[in-house]
Amino acid sequence: MSEKSAITVDQAVSVVVCPDGPLLVRGPARIVSSDGREVVRNRRTVALCRCGRSGLAPWCDGTHKVIGFHDQAELGS
Ligand code: FES
Repeated sequence: MSEKSAITVDQAVSVVVCPDGPLLVRGPARIVSSDGREVVRNRRTVALCRCGRSGLAPWCDGTHKVIGFHDQAELGS
C-alpha cells in the first residue's frame, strides 16, 4: 500500500455490535438514510439503533434497555 492510500488509525472506521444494544460506529464513516440523504453526525463515535424502537432513529436513545431487546445474532468468526 502506498503512503497516499494508507489509512491512518485516526481515519479508520470501526463498527462494534453491542450485545443486546446498538451498533457503535467510530471514525469518519458517512451515515446515509434509507432515502439516500446523509445524516449529520455531531460526534466522532455514534450509536445506531438496532432494536428498531428508538425515538431518535437512526440513533440509539437507550430504548433497547427499556424494552428488553435481545439480539438473536451469533457472529461467527
Ligand atoms: S438499540 Fe438502542 S434504542 Fe434501539
